[in-house]
Amino acid sequence: MNEIIKFLKKRRSVTAKKMLPGKVTESDLNDILECALRVPDHGALSPWRLIVIQNDMRKTLGEEILVPEFKKNNTDLDEEKLLFEKNRFLRADKIIAVIYSPIESVKIPSWEMMLSTGAVCQNITIAAQSLNYAVQWVTEWYSYNDKMLEYLGGDISKDKLAGFIYIGEKKEDPVERIRPKFDKIIKFLN
Ligand SMILES: Cc1cc2nc3c(=O)[nH]c(=O)nc-3n(C[C@H](O)[C@H](O)[C@H](O)COP(=O)(O)O)c2cc1C
Repeated sequence: MNEIIKFLKKRRSVTAKKMLPGKVTESDLNDILECALRVPDHGALSPWRLIVIQNDMRKTLGEEILVPEFKKNNTDLDEEKLLFEKNRFLRADKIIAVIYSPIESVKIPSWEMMLSTGAVCQNITIAAQSLNYAVQWVTEWYSYNDKMLEYLGGDISKDKLAGFIYIGEKKEDPVERIRPKFDKIIKFLN
């Protein structure tokens, strides 16, 4: 079987909870980012922005955004939860935030720009997984937080966070999860 098909049929995410930060090499990161930009994009509008969160910024974002915003939006606060928020981004070595940033167009509906943004996220996911990293695409609560979007350079009047892709090291190989039943989802019309 073709190697790419073999990989795609087996690839599996590793939750951020279960990964170690490890180290993503610069060359791998560049390859992942190049793959990220190579997606179908109707009208070649590039309606997305990528922000690589790494090094100290993982902690800074925890302190400056996650903790204060979590405090603002939750009443059942305890030290453990706040510490988790502070260190949330330290779960991975690199976290790529993908921002959907629609472009004004009379021809291309924004729905299609959103789909292209999903393709960016998936390309990052599969490129990083193909390099044997632990990878997970999450939205969690802070993808829906305006302060986070603003801090990352998004325009809160129109942009959205499509998610954060955590890239770290595998502690162990993940077990398979239940997959959709082929016959239930796919229909052939002859
Ligand atoms: C847009 C989007 C947002 C997601 N957000 C979360 C999340 O916040 N938390 C979570 O545990 N999984 C989330 N997931 C699912 C994870 O990516 C999950 O690990 C993945 O679906 C596992 O499947 P895989 O092994 O086929 O990659 C999200 C998936 C997508 C597509």
